[in-house]
Amino acid sequence: MNEFYQKDIISIKDFNKDQLEKIFTSTDKIIQLNPTERREISKGKTMAYLFYEPSTRTRLSFDSAMASIGGNSLGIADISSSSTQKGESLADTVKIMSIYSDALVLRHPLDGSSRFAAEVSSKPVINAGSGTEEHPTQAIQDLYTIRKEKKKIDGLKIGIVGDLKYGRTVYSLLYGLGNYDVDVHLISPESLRIRSDSVYEIKKRLSFTESTDIEEHIDDLDVLYVTRIQKERFPDEEEYLKVKGSYVVGLDLLQKMKDNAIILHPLPRLDEISTDVDGTKNAKYFQQAEYGKYTRAALLGLTLNEDGF
Ligand code: CP
Repeated sequence: MNEFYQKDIISIKDFNKDQLEKIFTSTDKIIQLNPTERREISKGKTMAYLFYEPSTRTRLSFDSAMASIGGNSLGIADISSSSTQKGESLADTVKIMSIYSDALVLRHPLDGSSRFAAEVSSKPVINAGSGTEEHPTQAIQDLYTIRKEKKKIDGLKIGIVGDLKYGRTVYSLLYGLGNYDVDVHLISPESLRIRSDSVYEIKKRLSFTESTDIEEHIDDLDVLYVTRIQKERFPDEEEYLKVKGSYVVGLDLLQKMKDNAIILHPLPRLDEISTDVDGTKNAKYFQQAEYGKYTRAALLGLTLNEDGF
């Protein structure tokens, strides 16, 4: 049996290097198959999505991925149009949606929400972002992008800049990178350093340096992963205003980087990467968003088919 069949995808910590590499190989296969072959993978299966927070890429790439492998999607993109407004609990909503589907994709503002949903769901749950905690399918997409664009992950020097306190993509990426031999440089304002409650867990997996200065290692990086400062997660707007616009990656900074360095961003972007970087060969964030569709198609194909594809 395919080891991913019916498996919840809650944390990237639940995947070892061998499993990640299998997902990447399956993603390569998704890309190589022609559309007719691809549509056979999950024909007749249904994915449900339940989003308690806004999303463009994650929800639509899951939707598009499911269609590309021959399945259907249904779901709630705007929670204000659901019976949650009448007071229905997360547990009951998940139970109902798992009756109508073969897998459930959940985004929710609370840490632990996906793990909780998996406990009450009769179908596999895929975490599409849980609070400030994790966004595992984004990390799979990010690691796949690095592997595809740099032809390897081991041996790379990777800078991660921006909101390291509230950015859930950062945590999943760091846990995922822990499976590889990489040098990681974390760059953030002092108040947005990675959370102390996660440092121990991250240190178990990889070593990293921390800095407030984006230029400190810039000429040595193979990958610069830029993140948005997550205004919506600050308890106090004054604190957000102090760090807003702390880093802007523009052509001037790009000139200081290796010629073949790549710039990634989970998106959405505000002003942390200037738009004149978009047309450079180093800018890979839109390509990264496209890979998200293929990695999610691979994950759904593996989750929904006993014998894989
Ligand atoms: N990267 C990401 O999660 O984007 P969305 O919030 O648009 O889904």
